[in-house]
Amino acid sequence: MELQTPTSLVFGVNGERFELSHVDPSTTLLEFLRTRTRFKSVKLGCGEGGCGACVVLISKYDPVLDQVEDFTASSCLTLLCSIHGCSITTSEGIGNGKEGFHPIHERFAGFHASQCGFCTPGMCVSLFGTLVNAEKRNCPEPPAGFSKVTVTEAEKAIAGNLCRCTGYRPIADVCKSFAADVDMEDLGLNSFWRKGESKNLMLSRLPQYDRNQTNSRFPLFLKEIKHDLFLASEKHSWHRPISLTEFQSLLKLNHANGTRIKIVVSNTGMGYYKDKEGYDKYIDLRGISELSKIRKDRTGIEIGAAVTISKAIEALKEESRSDFLSDYVIILEKIADHLSKVASGFIRNTASVGGNLVMAQRSNFPSDIAILLLAVDAMVHVMTGTQFEWLTLEEFLERPPLGLESVLLSIKIPSLELNKSESSEPRSRFLFETYRASPRPLGNALPYLNAAFLVKVSPCKDSDGTVIDTCRLSFSAYASKHAIRVKKVEEFLAGKLLSVSILYDAVNLVKAAIVPKDDTSKTAYCSSLAAGFIFQFFNPLIGPFVISNGNLNGHINLPFVKDFELKENWKHVHHDKVPTLLSSGKQVLEAGCEYHPVGEPIVKSGAALQASGEAVFVDDIPSPSNCLHGAYIYSAKPLARVRNIKLMPELQLVGVRDIISSKDIPDGGENIGSKTIFGTEPLFAEEMARCVGDRIAFVVADTQKLADMAANSAVVDYDTENLEPPILSVEDAVERSSFFEVPPFLYPKYVGDISKGMAEADHKILSAEMKLESQYYFYMETQTALAVPDEDNCITVYSSTQCPEFSHSIIARCLGIPENNVRVITRRVGGGFGGKAIKSIPVAASCALAALKLQRPVRIYLNRKTDMIMAGGRHPMKITYSVGFKNDGKITALELQILVNAGIYVDVSAVMPHNIASALKKYDWGALSLDIKVCRTNHPSRSAMRGPGEVQGSFIAEAIIENVAATLSMDVDCVRSINLHTYESLQLFYEYSHGEPDEYTLPSIWSKLAVAANYDQRTKMVQEFNRINTWKKRGISRVPVMFQLTQRPTPGKVSIFSDGSIAVEVGGIELGQGLWTKVKQMAAYALSAIRCDGTEGLLEKIRVVQSDTVGMIQGGFTSGSTTSESSCEAVRLSCNILVERLKPLKEKLQEETGSIKWETLILQAYMQAVNLSASSFYVPSNNSSNYLNYGAAVSEVEIDLLNGETRFLQTDIIFDCGQSLNPAVDLGQIEGAFVQGLGFFMMEQYETNLDGLVLQDGTWNYKIPTIDTIPKQFNVQILNSGHHQHRVLSSKASGEPPLLLAASIHCATRAAIKEARKQVLSWSNQDEADSTFQLGVPAIMPVVKELCGPDIVERYLKWKMGRT
Ligand SMILES: Cc1cc2nc3c(=O)[nH]c(=O)nc-3n(C[C@H](O)[C@H](O)[C@H](O)COP(=O)(O)OP(=O)(O)OC[C@H]3O[C@@H](n4cnc5c(N)ncnc54)[C@H](O)[C@@H]3O)c2cc1C
Ligand code: FES
Ligand code: FES
Repeated sequence: MELQTPTSLVFGVNGERFELSHVDPSTTLLEFLRTRTRFKSVKLGCGEGGCGACVVLISKYDPVLDQVEDFTASSCLTLLCSIHGCSITTSEGIGNGKEGFHPIHERFAGFHASQCGFCTPGMCVSLFGTLVNAEKRNCPEPPAGFSKVTVTEAEKAIAGNLCRCTGYRPIADVCKSFAADVDMEDLGLNSFWRKGESKNLMLSRLPQYDRNQTNSRFPLFLKEIKHDLFLASEKHSWHRPISLTEFQSLLKLNHANGTRIKIVVSNTGMGYYKDKEGYDKYIDLRGISELSKIRKDRTGIEIGAAVTISKAIEALKEESRSDFLSDYVIILEKIADHLSKVASGFIRNTASVGGNLVMAQRSNFPSDIAILLLAVDAMVHVMTGTQFEWLTLEEFLERPPLGLESVLLSIKIPSLELNKSESSEPRSRFLFETYRASPRPLGNALPYLNAAFLVKVSPCKDSDGTVIDTCRLSFSAYASKHAIRVKKVEEFLAGKLLSVSILYDAVNLVKAAIVPKDDTSKTAYCSSLAAGFIFQFFNPLIGPFVISNGNLNGHINLPFVKDFELKENWKHVHHDKVPTLLSSGKQVLEAGCEYHPVGEPIVKSGAALQASGEAVFVDDIPSPSNCLHGAYIYSAKPLARVRNIKLMPELQLVGVRDIISSKDIPDGGENIGSKTIFGTEPLFAEEMARCVGDRIAFVVADTQKLADMAANSAVVDYDTENLEPPILSVEDAVERSSFFEVPPFLYPKYVGDISKGMAEADHKILSAEMKLESQYYFYMETQTALAVPDEDNCITVYSSTQCPEFSHSIIARCLGIPENNVRVITRRVGGGFGGKAIKSIPVAASCALAALKLQRPVRIYLNRKTDMIMAGGRHPMKITYSVGFKNDGKITALELQILVNAGIYVDVSAVMPHNIASALKKYDWGALSLDIKVCRTNHPSRSAMRGPGEVQGSFIAEAIIENVAATLSMDVDCVRSINLHTYESLQLFYEYSHGEPDEYTLPSIWSKLAVAANYDQRTKMVQEFNRINTWKKRGISRVPVMFQLTQRPTPGKVSIFSDGSIAVEVGGIELGQGLWTKVKQMAAYALSAIRCDGTEGLLEKIRVVQSDTVGMIQGGFTSGSTTSESSCEAVRLSCNILVERLKPLKEKLQEETGSIKWETLILQAYMQAVNLSASSFYVPSNNSSNYLNYGAAVSEVEIDLLNGETRFLQTDIIFDCGQSLNPAVDLGQIEGAFVQGLGFFMMEQYETNLDGLVLQDGTWNYKIPTIDTIPKQFNVQILNSGHHQHRVLSSKASGEPPLLLAASIHCATRAAIKEARKQVLSWSNQDEADSTFQLGVPAIMPVVKELCGPDIVERYLKWKMGRT
């Protein structure tokens, strides 16, 4: 072979040219953008394709067609070398602060769709990509200002992007606002128009969108670039062969000398199978034309292996645009629909069909594509060495794992015509259906089980029934090593006249065949799913063989027709199956104008910058020269001595600089990682590691990648000899009396007399038990810090933290230096939710320790897996209760024992008894006694997570109410109502925080909500729905919450510059919760008391600046929902001081000149040496530090009895914000918290194995809500409950309490399950269902299905058989 001359890698980023001659081919595009360019808008959220924070638009020029192709992709998986000749657009490339924001950015800001902002740039690019491609479509021109995109497409634009803050509703509004078919009235709260304005006015107020300017501005210099690429250095090379022969020679050449080769197409496989080792040579298959073609002829459709899933979908759908709709075309369309649920758009756009199948073949990846192709008897074309062969997919999958010398060239879906034999009954039909039970309907989640069935049916000659001629039934995912056909069932069904009893037998055969290979917890679920799929497919075919309007017994089936009307009908039926997203939401705000601009729903400060990606997060701060990067080596054992740690020796050679451990704590320093008022925790384990995830050491290396690799490869030598076994459960803790002490002031007091209450009861439930599990924060930005050593033993640490003050003092203690040597700076945090409070401190301290020792800057950005393993999360607990109640549902006594699993260090766990009790007391229990033990176990320490303890307390209360109602067979809503507090009982239960009688708004919220949500009528509609539907059941539930809040002392400082601009500093940290925005409003309001000209524009002059622990001490921590209001109050006090100082001068000047402008006043004040900086420390008084807040929600859900899926149909919330400081910000908090709660109650499993190692450690298995899993109708009303004397301008907090309202979804699900169980029992002639069952948290699909009856299909069929 001729020796090739190395070429250079050339590409563009936002129009800038980059040319590289030496690249490590394992470098991802994300890595390059973040470390080698100034474009930081691409964020690292997961590194595995599962979150969308890193999405970019890739544009490629096709010289033959003279066209530019644009598609979104995840830059964390895209290898840099694969973008040769491409143009990359990031969010700052779409628009930015300097050259002007794009309307996408402005609308994200205006619709209040960005909170912490970490996800926002990725969202913007995903939407931009959808618009760019929509505008290329050849379809009628939309009205001016709109895109060609439709509402449905627009919402789906961000289907794979995760956001942990907003709850997605406002983001959906942004997307929809571009769609030509949008109903403007449907768009939610925004800063552009007010409710009731005309549509034309609304449109004119939207930041204008010009379709003609939405193109990716492909740079001319890239049009000249040849696409073949050969990069070579001493160590690595990248090859892009353009023919199979070239590829064969490359392989032959390299095999000989043992070179490590990686074949790549788009590298998305690395999201799942992470590379543990490096490779010497990368061979990119995309240049080989045979692999990129799609060919169609009468024998079928052949798709090249390198064709992307998106392109395959397009090609398959194209067929249905033909005038002839055949069984085959319908099959192709259904395959395309199913493929649209694989991963997410930005993955499908690059992921190849062949790559997917090779992953399935080689590594048993649970591929969707394999089951689809198996069902349609697809063929694959494989090249091995120089041999070519066609195999059935089945043969391909069953072969031993493909070697490197084998390349998949193409797959072929054969035309059905070939399958029809001459003698075939003319009325016989092919029916095809696919199934996918996955945690998220639109994809971005691997399925629990999926299936595809191709069945040929014909009418029975002797009766009017349906005969199964042949069938191919394929199942995949966790059911087997790879996709399989259940041949026993196929053979059993072939030739049979379909009847209930035949189906019953088939179901039983399928259940026996689908047994997951290793995951025992899902065994029963997967088997019952398989039964459900079979039932769904065959049940409609039982009975007469009727074809009407293209439907065969409910299946979509069309013989060859050229009937357009019929075709349209079919499309209608067909597309109904594609899940639709959020339909709408309503927001009702009662804003006050008394304290203008406080109370205005103004746009979040810096939102547009967040959208364009210019907002700077800690990891966006450019690395100082000489900077090193850290990664943790953590314990894999719950309790063990650490004898030794070894790294791979070669790593040390290539840039691992040190391993920092407790031995490196300097003289005078302390091995301390964090502290709370309850205790401390060590920075590093000394001799003994005490939990899985315990920090053992900190590897420091030249790059983050190297540090992570070194930490991963570390071999730790443990010793457990003569050690007591670790404490891994609360039961163990009780047995060994392993508890944390709870200070008496945090221990809940008994209320009333329990014995008396129990004696008064007509009924008792004794010693009922329940368990609650953990939840992970899933902040989009993981833990991160950068420490920079300075002169004279000083250090500056940039930390993403909720409590810089605590980090500051810990760093000083750890390093043994005075506190005035330390400075901690925090500008913004990419989501905290409690996880960046105590848990962020050791991260900052580790960097500081390493930096001081090595005298070099050290930073860390934790990878998602490590973050998940170390985080600890929400407190799991075991609850035992006894409750006494009257015949009418009135509860007379409640006795609770709760064992909280706090993990190994105390963190803030000692507050749990107080928090649990405070939320649980929302009902009048008559008498209440609580015994809450905070157990010390060998798990990572649990920390505060949004509503810590309150979420559980509130839910426990609901579970008890549900149990009481079930025992009495009473309507649960009546039991709730009867047990709500009167003001008198409220005083008893909340001794110090009950407030004034008119501040107790819950009873009025409760009844208002019933009207707003149409509760009574909808309850009847739900009953009617349940009566007429067998396989879907609905439930509706109304739930109240009561939340006790505490204000803490907070500092504030306001400085006015000579030009009249203002800088504000506060103790509170901007976490996305809108603290800065509220603070700005407050400063503008308070300073406007000076009453001079121009103060109405003050808001624009104010900048809230980053928190700096030297500039402002005693900042405290940002948590407990009240930091915004106390920061506001501190600022108000500072402003008052300034106003008082300025007043004499102002009055004097006014007298002299009649009126005085703000700028003039300030300039004069400067000249006259008025002190224009004031600070204050707000200390809440005794009667203002504690208060209660109230809200209620009604949720309606629908469950699918066959697969256990719950759809969230509608949620209505009324929440009391007092007089909201900013209703738009509070609305965002309410919706975002609710959706986070929905995740806790319904989706997010965060389990550990027996050693305490978390099982869900990434986006593949930890599923937070996405846009397709939020309530389809989401209505929120913010109640303006008037004047509250002791509150900050009458406002109340909104950050945490609404999370508790998500229990309404869980309770509604329980109600639906109750209906399902009743129905199942009715099939065996039993009326009385056991309604005291418990629904676990999270109520994921298997949990719901289990309660509805894993054998529901068999029971139904048996019942049917009994009736015939
Ligand atoms: C976040 C995410 C979610 C996903 N969700 C789903 C899902 O729901 N359902 C589903 O089915 N799949 C899912 N996938 C898998 C996805 O379909 C595959 O990652 C993708 O198709 C692989 O294609 P690729 O071009 O990126 O392959 P690469 O990553 O480049 O290659 C994958 C492997 O196949 C080898 N290879 C690739 N092409 C060939 C060939 N032609 N011949 C021989 N070897 C080859 C490579 O050497 C490598 O070992 C998901 C992936 C991600 C990242
Ligand atoms: S960081 Fe790339 S998808 Fe999450
Ligand atoms: S705004 Fe979406 S993750 Fe914070």
